[in-house]
Amino acid sequence: MKEKTQKNARAAFIGEAKAYFRLLAFAEKAREEGIPQIELLFRAIAEAERVHATRNLNLIKDIIVKDTDTNLESAFEQEKSISENEYPDFLKDAEDEGEKAAVFAFSQARDAESFHAKLYERAIFQSMKEDVKAYQVCQVCGYVTDKKAPKKCPICGAPEEQFKAISP
Ligand SMILES: [Fe+2]
Ligand SMILES: [Fe+2]
Repeated sequence: MKEKTQKNARAAFIGEAKAYFRLLAFAEKAREEGIPQIELLFRAIAEAERVHATRNLNLIKDIIVKDTDTNLESAFEQEKSISENEYPDFLKDAEDEGEKAAVFAFSQARDAESFHAKLYERAIFQSMKEDVKAYQVCQVCGYVTDKKAPKKCPICGAPEEQFKAISP
């Protein structure tokens, strides 16, 4: 794909992906305000933006999505970078500015990302083609484990019921 179109497809993908989450937040607000038709409108358009995001991503799929070994490496590198660089920087700023909720969210996300990196690292060095087992994802902080859901999340303390299984 030629340079400008590739750049635009990336931008369009990111824009639509953001719109999806933003519109779901708008829908939630409309629900709280007791305006169900507007809630549905936001949810419907959010779904449409999700379709667009996927379609734009498909245009650049060959550039972004490689074979699984390469994808594991790049997913690992991303987690490592975000947990060792981005989140620690964000955390420092949030501390400097006394933004307690952000301090909480960024520090837990940093910890969860480093667990994600560990899971990828293990996947890179082990053959994962034989037994397939489920993962459990904390819906509060994003901690992921390949064991059964803990009684309490080791990062945020959420109870077992807050874990969502990703199973075959
Ligand atoms: Fe992650
Ligand atoms: Fe958690």
